[in-house]
Amino acid sequence: MRLNLYKGLGGGIMAPFPNTHMKNLLSIQELSGEQIQELLALGHKLKGERGRHAEQPLRGQTWALIFSKSSTRTRVSFEVGVCELGGRPMFLSTRDMQLGRGEPVKDTARVLGRMVHGAIIRTYEQSEVEEFARWSGIPTINALTDREHPCQILADLLTLEEIYGVGAWKDMKIAFMGDTSNNMGRSWMWAAKRLGFTLALGGPQQALPDRQLLEQLDCPGIICTTDPEEAVRDACVINTDTWISMGQEQEKGTKEQAFFPYQVNRELLAHAAPGHSVFHCLPAYRGYEISDETLEAHAGAIFTEAENRLHAQKAVLYTLAKS
Ligand code: CP
Ligand code: NVA
Repeated sequence: MRLNLYKGLGGGIMAPFPNTHMKNLLSIQELSGEQIQELLALGHKLKGERGRHAEQPLRGQTWALIFSKSSTRTRVSFEVGVCELGGRPMFLSTRDMQLGRGEPVKDTARVLGRMVHGAIIRTYEQSEVEEFARWSGIPTINALTDREHPCQILADLLTLEEIYGVGAWKDMKIAFMGDTSNNMGRSWMWAAKRLGFTLALGGPQQALPDRQLLEQLDCPGIICTTDPEEAVRDACVINTDTWISMGQEQEKGTKEQAFFPYQVNRELLAHAAPGHSVFHCLPAYRGYEISDETLEAHAGAIFTEAENRLHAQKAVLYTLAKS
């Protein structure tokens, strides 16, 4: 039996203490459906209590943000989130670190593990965040790798629940259009597997997940199609993301042409469910994966996703600090 423990979190209001034990957040793949739902519940709670948190679980702590790629939302939301939970963020660009000149991840991890209390890492290889977590021994968060973007998916699910209700994803068809095998697509796939919703992936053949990944997922609720109308038909939430992820810039010229049929625009959305929402993790490239008109028509949901990065990540930081 699970006990629902309550501890004061804000302004005398009792909040659910996370039942989840989490040492790191390295992927959606490694989370259970129950852990995802507990993080979402805590995210809603923390959002409602912003500015009134009685408890500061990161008090006296320094959390390093180690970034090898550009960022606006992730960096700002983590820096603010760490501060709001009582800690101090320290931004470290790998351009300025010895890591950028070839110092091994495992040495960097062993140094930082003796100085800071947690690490938030944006990099290329998933193995780098895993290696850092293993060698540092401190809580480590994946702030985007080529394989997964778990923090964004938690913020997106939080947004979905705000719009449609807690657990509404259960009976929903969600679509992901464009480069479906990128980090966002993969994290959505693992969320579909863990939570059991229907996920339709619509993209050109070369951008659909490979057989090995689909076999690993072994999830009948994940539908792959090269037919954009089939992907969005009756979908309630339609996601998209850039066709050219960070690190793929050299593929721009050759890749783009095949993706235009999958642009999220008014014509395509005519096939979606009534009352649908469009999600984009941002940054958006208007005229490519999404039309300007559609982005502006759905700006309410899209910028709430960005805002919810803060609240979802505070739930992650809170849970890691308490585990
Ligand atoms: N969505 C997202 O991760 O944005 P940034 O690249 O600006 O952090
Ligand atoms: N797939 C994109 C997400 C950006 C937030 C990238 O990796 O660049």
